[in-house]
Amino acid sequence: MSFVSEKSKKTPRSVIREMFAMQTGLTDVVSFALGEPDFTSPKHIIDATVASFQRGETHYTPNAGIPALREAVARSYQERGLDYKPEEILIGSGAISVLCLACTAILDIGDEVLLPDPGWANYSGLIMQVGAVPVPVRVKEENGFMYDLEDLRAAITPKTKMILINSPSNPTGGVASAENLRQIADLVKEKDLYVLTDEIYHELLWSDEPYTSIASFPGMKERTLIVDGFSKKYAMTGFRLGYGAGPEEVIATMTKLLENVLSSVNEGIQWGGVAALTGDQSPVEEMKEQYRRRRQIIVEGLNAIDRISCLAPMGAFYAFPNISKTGLSSRDFAIRLLKEKHTVVVPGTGFGEGGEGFVRISYATSEENIREGLKRIAEFVASLP
Ligand SMILES: Cc1ncc(COP(=O)(O)O)c(C=O)c1O
Repeated sequence: MSFVSEKSKKTPRSVIREMFAMQTGLTDVVSFALGEPDFTSPKHIIDATVASFQRGETHYTPNAGIPALREAVARSYQERGLDYKPEEILIGSGAISVLCLACTAILDIGDEVLLPDPGWANYSGLIMQVGAVPVPVRVKEENGFMYDLEDLRAAITPKTKMILINSPSNPTGGVASAENLRQIADLVKEKDLYVLTDEIYHELLWSDEPYTSIASFPGMKERTLIVDGFSKKYAMTGFRLGYGAGPEEVIATMTKLLENVLSSVNEGIQWGGVAALTGDQSPVEEMKEQYRRRRQIIVEGLNAIDRISCLAPMGAFYAFPNISKTGLSSRDFAIRLLKEKHTVVVPGTGFGEGGEGFVRISYATSEENIREGLKRIAEFVASLP
């Protein structure tokens, strides 16, 4: 007899964890698996957190977050031309908790959500967990792995409630153009839909184009929930600090729901967030400089390998090379590369059926690892018939 709910059983497991388990016991492993900065969080952020604990700030905090952090987040939006007030900001434990609260607050059982395929694997699990239905929409290489408007339109049914956008994208590194987002915004308004936009990589951009949020188009702020966080930009994954920005009604509902799962985020971590947003930004610039260099090495290195091609990713720290000419499925490619060359990449199918023919390579790792990994991938591909 099982007491576990059917919807929990159906919620998929992350393929990244599976690849992780497979590498246990192997030595001399080069891993491109983890979507996590390899840098330690900047010192002034750690200091602000420790100072808060040392002041004895070890208690519950307001459900939506401490005022100083909500204000700092609101100000950071205002500086980017997005008019959010502190009451329109919610602080959560990592962007993932904010995504989960957003799905709970916005979706009813049976509501359909359009999401990118390939896209971050956790999205479908999050949607299924609240009894809603993920509807994958293919995002194609020739479109920079971003939505084609006609594909989105074709996927809309009377049950569609929301479109999920992730730009820059995990796993592809694709970035939506302002024009593409404007068209999606028009479709969203025409069909009376809601948008959940995961902007956690918004600062990690590799072109000179400024970042555009879909919330910035006329009439969109009231039907958009932005999710963001500190994990990627500030290398603060272990802090577990994220936030949402959206209409007051949705934020207030998410705040009510947050009380049932987190109660509140601890205070020291939130002061770390204040220091991150208001303090010295030069560590971020230094990390970005390293990602830029690594990106160049990885893209040039992959494109130099016969039978592999790689679009230059425009954001985040992922490359999503096309391996279809090797004749292997993405899963076989990843498993054989791991077993034969002790090199870990994530099969594209771990991000949806649309990921077949691709693998994800996270270049949030040292140049030395990248060069060694590229050498092993080249040897592996050369050994294939
Ligand atoms: C697209 C995307 N959204 C959200 C998250 C979760 O971030 P956090 O660490 O803030 O929960 C990740 C982490 O990998 C991600 O890649």
